[in-house]
Amino acid sequence: MSEKICVIGTGYVGLVTAIGLSDFGNHIIGVDVDTAKIENLKKGISPIYEPGIEEYLLRNLKSKRLEFSNDIDESIRKSTVIFIGVGTPSLKSGEADLSQVISVTDTIAENLNEYKIIVTKSTVPVGTNQMIIDRIKSKTDKTFDVVSNPEFLREGKAIIDFFNPDRVIIGCKSDKARKIMEDVYRTLRINQTPFVWCNLETAELIKYASNAFLATKITFINQIANLSEKIGADVHLVAKAMGMDGRISQKFLHPGPGYGGSCFPKDTRALANIGNRLNVDMSLVKEVIKANENQKLFVAEKIRKCYKNNNIKTVAILGLAFKAETDDMRESPSIVVINELLKDNLIIKVNDPKSMDNAKIIFGDKIKYFENEFDAVKDADLLIILTEWNEYRNIDINRIKKLMNGNIIIDTRNILDGKELEKMGFKYIATGR
Ligand code: UGA
Repeated sequence: MSEKICVIGTGYVGLVTAIGLSDFGNHIIGVDVDTAKIENLKKGISPIYEPGIEEYLLRNLKSKRLEFSNDIDESIRKSTVIFIGVGTPSLKSGEADLSQVISVTDTIAENLNEYKIIVTKSTVPVGTNQMIIDRIKSKTDKTFDVVSNPEFLREGKAIIDFFNPDRVIIGCKSDKARKIMEDVYRTLRINQTPFVWCNLETAELIKYASNAFLATKITFINQIANLSEKIGADVHLVAKAMGMDGRISQKFLHPGPGYGGSCFPKDTRALANIGNRLNVDMSLVKEVIKANENQKLFVAEKIRKCYKNNNIKTVAILGLAFKAETDDMRESPSIVVINELLKDNLIIKVNDPKSMDNAKIIFGDKIKYFENEFDAVKDADLLIILTEWNEYRNIDINRIKKLMNGNIIIDTRNILDGKELEKMGFKYIATGR
């Protein structure tokens, strides 16, 4: 495509979008206000841990289709298509904080030297794209179009998801913008990726509805897991059999310590808030939010019962990130669980392959950090698995047995083989089975 594109924001969404679009053959400028971040990106160093990202970053830098800049004004002026990929975190009220989106919108308006398409990639509440249109119109007479193009990237799988999306959603009112967007995504269109063309509001809602539905599915199976534990059922077989019904599907029916991350918690709260604002009953989503908070506490309580009954003092925790393959600790269940355990003055020894630096910011010296999982487990009375990293799935159990002081393992993700562990003399406590 001949049009120049800039992507504002080099966080998870912005950076993966910039790299991915560049790999499709587009010419991209990745823009951020953070100078250090941009300097590193120019050298091929990614600010986030994401499997495969640096390989794609280097490849596209080398091809000269991808460049990075701190100069937001100039990057906007030079570009015809401007992707907004900045953060929209939760405010205390649960509403999405749109301050970064608004600030970028104003900068775009100031630099609107010719027709441009402004594409919102950030997850924004229904009505935000119209607000962007109104705001720019109030500041300039230049022509432009606004397009809503929500992202569906999972952290840890963002690169794979970018190149193999289940669908691409494009909310767009104008034919001119549609033609250019078709060009931007030419590679995916050739590959037969389904495209959904709709209005701005529909695109905005598809994103929130998708995330809230997935969060509901997880919360549902977590409650079924808790019930399974009480009645002696196996939640994995329940989920598997449920999923054999094509209408349900097996995906996102893995029980665990509750969903976390930067998306589901924030987006469910924002959807509940949209309902409040527009006086529409969103009670189901509100219950999901509450039930997910309870799930984290339920897991903490299960652990507490175990150590109170067994007079345990030292606990090893493997896994801190909200899921595997990421260094992200945002709203991770481990935060709630560890804070609960700290109330009982336990010695807590932790390991995580990627998120220990982030954990140090949260817990400081209240817990003990170990670069190696075996050092974390040494002398522990109880071992708890909180994140489903592959290195823990295949952990050397014989070595663990020799190192641990006690013999109890609580596996909140069901990644270990309970039968084998019990044969070896462990007391294995699984989730929902
Ligand atoms: C999620 C969505 O999956 C993406 O499609 C979406 O684009 C993204 O949010 C976003 O809005 O940007 P992400 O938060 O990276 O992606 O992670 P997920 O893989 O969806 O997992 C979210 C949480 O649910 C994790 O804590 C995970 O452990 C938990 N989970 C997931 C379960 O407990 N059980 C499951 O079966 C699946």
